[in-house]
Amino acid sequence: MPTPEPTVTADNDPNRSTAHLTIREPDDWHLHLRDDAMLALATDITARQFARAIVMPNLVPPVTTVAAAEAYRDRILGALPQGRRFTPLMTAYLTDEIDADEIGTGFERGVFAACKLYPAGATTNSAAGVTDVRKIRPVLERMQTIGMPLLVHGEVASSDIDIFDREAVFLETVLAPMLRDFPALKVVLEHITTADSVQFIQAAGPTLAATITPHHLRIDRNALFEGGLRPHAYCLPVAKRRHHRTALRQAAVSGDPKFFLGTDSAPHLKQDKESACGCAGIFSAPAALESYALTFDEEGALDRLEAFASEFGPRFYGLPLNEGTISLHREAHTLPETITRGDVSVVPFHAGETLAWRAAERADR
Ligand code: DOR
Ligand code: ZN
Repeated sequence: MPTPEPTVTADNDPNRSTAHLTIREPDDWHLHLRDDAMLALATDITARQFARAIVMPNLVPPVTTVAAAEAYRDRILGALPQGRRFTPLMTAYLTDEIDADEIGTGFERGVFAACKLYPAGATTNSAAGVTDVRKIRPVLERMQTIGMPLLVHGEVASSDIDIFDREAVFLETVLAPMLRDFPALKVVLEHITTADSVQFIQAAGPTLAATITPHHLRIDRNALFEGGLRPHAYCLPVAKRRHHRTALRQAAVSGDPKFFLGTDSAPHLKQDKESACGCAGIFSAPAALESYALTFDEEGALDRLEAFASEFGPRFYGLPLNEGTISLHREAHTLPETITRGDVSVVPFHAGETLAWRAAERADR
């Protein structure tokens, strides 16, 4: 059994004197905005903190064409509150049949920022995903040539593999061979959850990076069963043992540019989470920066938050850094139990908790 670790509290927090923090505006390098009424809520809330976001394409039907991505981008921009400056960076959903020309054209025209690889059956709306990466070799060749990033949901989908091992098995059976075949392909291993992934990324060359979510920095798998079944702590990849969380925290605050912010904020209706078959996904957008700040603060690394949140991501993607700034204040505030707009009710990450940090809204309108 792994040894339990000490919990960092305000009393042994080395940074507790820091009251304000102003950082360059951050971006979210992994985000679900959904569609329709949920899109309006999720876009508004995300754009309060983030200037740009990599928008996941796992709609129904998925975003597989340039035209579909342009139409979705228009819906996102249409959902923004008046005057809000926010850039959605669109992604293409890879399928077994995806056409390399469609992907190449979309990237060259500036519509697609990246492609998303969902192993078929691995997660929410991934049924149309890739059944075998050998089927998308022509697309990967093209992406490698044009410098287009591949974003990977790094889990094998097989029900024969224990759900807590699916990320580690993916590294060995899918990712390592793919990187050998495409050594110059830019790859982001999304929402990593294990010490194995941290080590894999550290050992790889500069073309491989990873995003880390706010929730995987705070919860371990106990959170799913704390006093009963906790559907709002359920996401994929599922949270792992405590020592994996420790490795993620060390990676996030290490200052290594291969690890950067991606919330994987994934809202589902409250009733779809609190169900006999609850959906995977944690809606972290409402207090994303605050949640990361809590972790960096506890780790004595508030001075490294800016690079993780606002510099390493754009550098990896080859995009300019944002010019504006956003402030965080040490000011206790309590998150609502639910966020409701019209018919849409969602439970945010940290629901009902009092957080020590509060982010100001971006001052752009
Ligand atoms: O928890 C998750 N939710 N993981 C994913 O990979 C997809 C996401 C969603 O779309 O709800
Ligand atoms: Zn996701």
